[in-house]
Formats: sequence, C-alpha cells, structure tokens
Amino acid sequence: MRRIFCEGPNVLRGHFTPQGSKNGVLPLLAASIIFDSVIKINNVPYIEDIKTMISILQNLGISCKFVNNSIIVDSRDIKSFEIDWELASKMRASFDLLGSLVFRCSKAVVPFPGGCLIGNRKVDMHLWITKQLGFDVQIESGNVVVNDFDENHVNEEIKFWIPSVGATKNATFLGMFVSNSTNKTVIFHNVAIEPEITYLWDFLIQNGANIYYDEEKRVLKIGPSKLVHSSVITVDNIPDRIEAGTYAIAACATRGNIWIEDNFDKKYSVKNMLSKLWEVLKEIGVDISCLHDGIEVKIVKPLSSFEISTDVYPGFPTDLQPQMVSLALSVDGVSVVRENLFDDRFVYVGELLRLGADINVVGNKVATVYGGKNLKGAPVRATDIRGGAAILIACLMSEGQSVVSDVYQIERGYESIVEKMSKLGARVFEEDQKPLTKSGQEILR
Ligand code: EPU
Repeated sequence: MRRIFCEGPNVLRGHFTPQGSKNGVLPLLAASIIFDSVIKINNVPYIEDIKTMISILQNLGISCKFVNNSIIVDSRDIKSFEIDWELASKMRASFDLLGSLVFRCSKAVVPFPGGCLIGNRKVDMHLWITKQLGFDVQIESGNVVVNDFDENHVNEEIKFWIPSVGATKNATFLGMFVSNSTNKTVIFHNVAIEPEITYLWDFLIQNGANIYYDEEKRVLKIGPSKLVHSSVITVDNIPDRIEAGTYAIAACATRGNIWIEDNFDKKYSVKNMLSKLWEVLKEIGVDISCLHDGIEVKIVKPLSSFEISTDVYPGFPTDLQPQMVSLALSVDGVSVVRENLFDDRFVYVGELLRLGADINVVGNKVATVYGGKNLKGAPVRATDIRGGAAILIACLMSEGQSVVSDVYQIERGYESIVEKMSKLGARVFEEDQKPLTKSGQEILR
C-alpha cells in the first residue's frame, strides 16, 4: 500500500491548473450510454474513480478508452445491463448508471453502491423516484433490479424530499425514457443544481434532449426527445472546483499564495462555481482577486477564525468541509464547522488528532476547532477522498515528518497530488522517493 511522506512545515506558492472535474465526468460517462454515437469527453483526470467507471462500462461490453486525458466511449454494441458487484462496491457513482442503463436497455441490475465511508448514503429516494415513474423495482441478492415499465403508473410530477445529486442524475435519464415512451412531459421539483448536474443537462440539451431547467426554482422538465446521431459527439469536461478549492485552502493554511488558472466559460468557471468559498476566505482576511483568466489567493494579514455550515449548491460545498477544518487549525481562536449533508463526515478528525490538533466533534454534525496550536508530524491514514486531502494539508502544516498511508483514497479524486504539491514547493514524496530527514527514516523502519 503506497504512502506519502511529508516534511513540514511547508508554504505552498505558485501557479496551479485544475484537473477536469471528477464529479463532472461521471455523469457525462453515464450519458454516453444513451447515445447511438461515439462520445469523446475531453479534460478528464486520470484518477482511481474514473478508472473504476471505465472498468464498469467495459464490463457491460461498452468500448471505453482513456487516451491523452480524453475518454472515448462507444456503447453501440452494449452487451449487458448488469453492473458487476465488485466494481460497483468501489464507488458511489456506479449507482448513477441505473437511469442511463434503463434508457438504453429498458432494464437494469445495479448493486447497492460503495464509495467514501462518510455516512449512511442511502439510495431510498432513487428507488422511490424509479417506482413513481412507473417501473417495477425489486431488491435481489444485494442488487436493485429495475424492469417492467408500466405507462399507466407514471406520476408525471415528482417532488424530491432532498435535492440529491445522484438521484437527480438518475431522474434525468429515467425521465427521458418515460417521456419518450409516453409522449408526456415529466416534471421534477427540488432537484440538485450542482454545476456538474446543470452541465450534464446542457450537454444533453445540445445533443437533442428536450430538457428545461430553472435553477432558482430547482425545477426540471423533460419532454420527448430526439437525440442527435453523429459519428462523434465531443464534450469538454468542466474544471474540478473541489480540487481547485482544496489547493486554495492548502495555500491559505500554509500561509502561501496561489494563482489558479481559470479560463472556462463564465458559468462553469472556478470563480463562479466556488463563489461561496471565495466569500468565506475574504471574510477571514484572505486577499482574493478574481481576474478573467485566473484567481489569485494571497495572505496579506493574520486570518481570523470562522463559522461555516455546509449546504447544497450554491451553499458551502460539503466536499471542502474537511479541508476547512485543517485551515481552522492554522488560525488562532475557535472555529465552528457544521456538516449538514452527510451523517458521518468527520471520520478524518481522528487522524488530525494524531498531529496534535484540538478538535471536538459533537453528534457527527459539528466540529469545534481550537486553532493556532503547533502540529507535529506523525503517521496518519487517509480515511476518504476529501478527508484524506484535509489530512495531507494538516501534514503540510505540521513540523517534522508525517507519513500518510491509504493514499489510494486521495488518489480516487486527486490527480498527481504529490507532483502538483511539489511544484508548489511542498516537500512531499511518494513511497519510493527518499524522505529528507533522519526522523523520517526512523518512521520508515
Ligand atoms: N440521500 C438519501 N437518499 C437518497 C440519496 C441521497 O438519503 O436516495 C442522502 C445521502 O445519504 C447523503 C445526502 O443525501 O447524506 C446527499 O447525497 P447526494 O445524492 O446529493 O450525493 P451523492 O450523489 O451521493 C455527490 C458527489 C459527492 C458530493 C455529494 C454532495 C459524485 C460522484 N459524488 O454524491 O462527492 O459530496 O454529491 O455534493 O458526484 C466526493 O467527490 O468526494 C464526493 C463525496
């Protein structure tokens, strides 16, 4: 199992180019199943979750290749509608293929998903929506089996009880199937409007889907669609707002500065997609300049402690919650971080305590962080993707050597993190690179 060695304290400084969005490419891959064309997705990061998704698609008999940061998918000869249990158990987004498989094959067998251990992560609303849309849904040997669409049992107007990202993806593809089969319009209320979702809708609209959405009202309307047929449909994936936010927070936590390249469309620019983060960082004293081709994040004065509460988009992203706890450790005073989306997203805190952090978590909902204390390097373990990133940030801040194990958790979401951090001046090393100090060698033994 690979590890990362980190010699601290560090200051991150320099230029950073965000990878393509992990959570942006996954719905595009799901969408690629519904077209009778080859789909080419550009700007794709080479990370574990994407590799797993490629394997899942290949396992269905779909041709799916990763070539130079692009994925080329040809699902015209799809051979199966049953997702492999072992592959599905590696990631949550495997479940998001349910809707597109049904669109394509009129049925689907999808195992209960895996993914980060950050709470219960139920799929009850996915199943409820599928039934509301007129499908028979059974649970058999750990699989969800969707079958037998009955147009006499379609509820044409459905209200989500939470604006779930995954359920919105499935509702989109199932809604398209139902609308095409019945010639009726299906309306969903209280849907997710994360940029990765609206970008999926934009892509589908551009390619013939009869979709209308209103972000303010969280409404999605789907009418009968005629999808385009073309030899190749090309789509550029959006930048990864969470990766960009992670590096911005890491630069602040280490009192460095970073220039984040940002030249994507206005709506899908990092500036726009992370506006809540910029707002919070400005409030605590970080100097943020949003320019047309980038964002400059600079520390010009002492930072103050803060309170944040995660929420669905456009609220503060839960995927940056752990990284903000590490930032809070660097700031004098008491900060409070509330998690409102997941019921167990503070698992990583136990690892921060090994570095000497003083954090109190109550009811898995609220972390009170007593910041400004000296952190000391230690062996730690990456618990999940974002928790792992937070742990690495805290290691950068700590004095002496830290060794992060279970690095694959971080690598599920972050491309070349050691290389990128090294370029920003961090003394971080892969397992096979030599650590700097004696103390490091002691830990190694
Ligand atoms: N939920 C239910 N029932 C459902 C569906 C969801 O109770 O049927 C609950 C979940 O248990 C969770 C909350 O609703 O507590 C939010 O779940 P949601 O469906 O919105 O999230 P997701 O689709 O599982 C995606 C991202 C996550 C990100 C969340 C929230 C992908 C592949 N994953 O997860 O990303 O945290 O939306 O924005 O898009 C990550 O990248 O590290 C990550 C965890």
